[in-house]
Amino acid sequence: MYNDNPTLSGLIKEIDESKQGEAFYKEGHEGGKKFYIESYGCQMNFSDSEIVASILAEEGFGATRDMEEADLILVNTCSIREKAEETVRKRLRLFDKVKQNKPGTLVGVLGCMAERLKAKFLEEEKLVDMVIGPDAYRDLPKLIATAEDGEKGVNVFLSREETYADISPLRLDSNGVTAFISIMRGCDNMCSFCVVPFTRGRERSRDSYSIVAEATDLFDKGYREVTLLGQNVDSYKWSNPETEESVNFAQLLEMTAKIHPDLRIRFSTSHPKDITDEVLETMANYENICKYIHLPVQSGNSRVLELMNRTYDREWYMDRVNAIYRYMPDCAISSDMIAGFCSETEEEHQETLTMMEFANYSMSYMFYYSERPGTLAHRKLEDDISLEVKKRRLNEIIRLQNQISFKHNQADIGKTFKVLIEGDSKKSADDFKGRNSQNKMMVFPKKNGLKPGDYVQVKVKDATSATLKGEIVEG
Ligand code: SAH
Ligand code: SF4
Ligand code: F3S
Repeated sequence: MYNDNPTLSGLIKEIDESKQGEAFYKEGHEGGKKFYIESYGCQMNFSDSEIVASILAEEGFGATRDMEEADLILVNTCSIREKAEETVRKRLRLFDKVKQNKPGTLVGVLGCMAERLKAKFLEEEKLVDMVIGPDAYRDLPKLIATAEDGEKGVNVFLSREETYADISPLRLDSNGVTAFISIMRGCDNMCSFCVVPFTRGRERSRDSYSIVAEATDLFDKGYREVTLLGQNVDSYKWSNPETEESVNFAQLLEMTAKIHPDLRIRFSTSHPKDITDEVLETMANYENICKYIHLPVQSGNSRVLELMNRTYDREWYMDRVNAIYRYMPDCAISSDMIAGFCSETEEEHQETLTMMEFANYSMSYMFYYSERPGTLAHRKLEDDISLEVKKRRLNEIIRLQNQISFKHNQADIGKTFKVLIEGDSKKSADDFKGRNSQNKMMVFPKKNGLKPGDYVQVKVKDATSATLKGEIVEG
């Protein structure tokens, strides 16, 4: 889920710039202070906003969906592409108007853009009162106090240790069935196009036992699916400082899968260089570890992959895809692709298209290259593919993905899947929606007595490139 990019498996949609990030809502104390928060970017940011909400709730803040009644407006930002930053700046224009109507309202910028721009943000955006990087959220109460005194509050310190392991996230706008759990922070890979290592700092893994405890607590509260989050989950490694026992990602998967057979486990993102056979074997061994892997390829060409500093080549990636289908013939694989990276030729672009066919992605997130200040590519490579060519190549990628997704989904017609009910379908209150193990969204007519959080067997009757439509065959 990248909030500035709606080109999921579905149609070629233009980015809806007016779309606001998800806002949290919870009744505050009567007469108490209220905060409003919007989140952009990846799932890690949404997960971080739940940590922020928890820290603010401790301070007596209640959440509101109405920015006009908020004492504190927060925006959790993303820097991954230029467009993501533009979206945030547009939102700031709107917050400015709210502030003019209600002087004293504080505006805080959180997340990756705060980290990238640091105090410069305060010069560029006069209305901003606080700039807080992703590792500084514990400092929020102090920074709010500073801002209330009329000074600007800034903390963009990146930590080598912070994992917020002891903070229980406040699941405010949740469906009560599915939740995210951050298992690590930061990234030590230096993909040349990517700003994340600069905005999120060094990679660190969270205490395995705190992860299992959080998942267990969610299960006890009625949740039935957790998604373990990290920029590169396959390099998860945590050592118990007391026993020196070390836990890798495959072992963490097993620990969470063992909590209860009715608790589904998902994870994101896997890095092709690090995904091991041990992980695939563990997935195959547990029915409740979902048969779905997000394995971003970025490019199908080895020379471009080297320029991207992805540290694998086309053959390595194909070997990993083969291994996945060998261990789990029913596994779905999805991907991220970047069109028009520095010096990419037409032939090299074609190799991305053939890779998509080879891997048979169920869906993909697709982007054209957006140069980010400070990255290796910005310093060392020329952003020499014209916008027109980037867009044309991206459209070719999107068109092909739509065809592959459509075929992938058509092949499911007639099959029966175990589906976790998540809630009402968007289009009709007579239908439920839920996903199968392969992460495909399924829509089917309701049946009496069933509710979100229940598992049902659904037979697929029809399929588009985005959704499977079906019928419950047993409750
Ligand atoms: N950690 C994940 C990716 C996180 S960023 C991984 O390694 O796969 C999400 C996606 O944004 C990336 O996979 C990439 O496809 C895209 N992306 C990152 N930087 C970009 C840039 N400068 N321009 C265009 N797309 C970019
Ligand atoms: Fe960025 Fe690469 Fe790290 Fe993913 S693995 S967050 S693309 S540097
Ligand atoms: Fe964006 Fe930061 Fe995530 S740059 S994609 S919010 S890690």
